[in-house]
Amino acid sequence: MQKILIVDDVEINRELLRNILKEDYMIEMAENGEEALAKLTVWHNGISAILLDLQMPKMDGFTVIAQLKEQGLIGKIPVLIISSEHAVEIENRCFELGVSDFIHKPFVSSIVKNRIKNTLELFACKNQLEQKVEEQEETLKKQHQIIQRQAEKLKESKPFNKLMLEYRSAIMEVETRLNVLNEEFSLEYNRNPFESIKSRLKSPTSIYEKLERKGYPVTMDSIKKHLTDVAGLRVICSFPDDIYRLAELFTKQDDIILLKKKDYIKNPKSSGYRSLHLISSVPIFLSDEKQYMTVEVQFRTIAMDFWASLEHKLKYKQDVDNTEEIVRQLKNCADSIEALDYEMQDIRNKIDKSKE
Ligand code: GTP
Ligand code: MG
Repeated sequence: MQKILIVDDVEINRELLRNILKEDYMIEMAENGEEALAKLTVWHNGISAILLDLQMPKMDGFTVIAQLKEQGLIGKIPVLIISSEHAVEIENRCFELGVSDFIHKPFVSSIVKNRIKNTLELFACKNQLEQKVEEQEETLKKQHQIIQRQAEKLKESKPFNKLMLEYRSAIMEVETRLNVLNEEFSLEYNRNPFESIKSRLKSPTSIYEKLERKGYPVTMDSIKKHLTDVAGLRVICSFPDDIYRLAELFTKQDDIILLKKKDYIKNPKSSGYRSLHLISSVPIFLSDEKQYMTVEVQFRTIAMDFWASLEHKLKYKQDVDNTEEIVRQLKNCADSIEALDYEMQDIRNKIDKSKE
């Protein structure tokens, strides 16, 4: 049986409520706020709801609510106000303070029972949900710790470090080839097709986490077989047509194997994301062998890159307000960027033509 604390200075009220509720609940009683708080200190884990009068000697109901709030108990134990007060502003004030419901005097047995029953059910649901969320957070925390520990182990393994060296070499290889193309192009047309190249090697934690998430074993073979983005390069171009020209020149090289092309410029993601992704197999030359390594190269314009880094922040930041509004704004920005990129390209074409 759940226990209910009735707080009222008038004995008849306390007795009336006790009679209505005694069949379904265990009853505790207090004559004023002070006594109620004292009982709560002893009982607070065992009390399922508080029926609280507002006007009482020694300590009134509002002070009790304020104290409960301070102790973080409002929201944990439902408080129902029992009062002959009908003034809207008083009721509103109580709700603003976190009170769950109102039961008006004179008491009608069925209404008292139903209001308490409903409130208790709601709180049980809410508490269950909160507990689930807490448990999930705890599980996530533990998983994160396991991943961190496993990633530390990976870092110490020799085969893993050898594999990372191979991926780093592949990054260097691709970077060199793109730089050569850039120089050649600039000699021919007097401008550079790309502004900059950024590269990154996937961290041991991300490698471990991604394999685990996709249900693959964490072995060197598995990394090579299932992950295509361990070696990643981002090529930032000025104009959309440079992206396609550069990508074509790169994949045309006779020892580069194009494994997959994802054209998010022609087919943008619903977020507004636009980039050209090439997943390629690239040869590297070690002291005793030639090996092919998978590399992911993303091509995008300066404006698309600026957009992607802002949008990326939204994905990894929790508790952002107005997410829907931001998502809509970002989509609008991405569309404007597309229009701007092509307009700038058009201007460049006109300038180039007049030079001829
Ligand atoms: P990942 O598991 O994240 O690699 O996704 P995927 O294997 O399905 O490939 P996809 O081509 O969708 O994404 C590869 C990479 O492109 C991501 O890791 C991001 O760096 C980038 N990317 C893809 N979609 C978005 C997007 O909507 N916004 C931003 N900012 N980056 C994106
Ligand atoms: Mg990826």
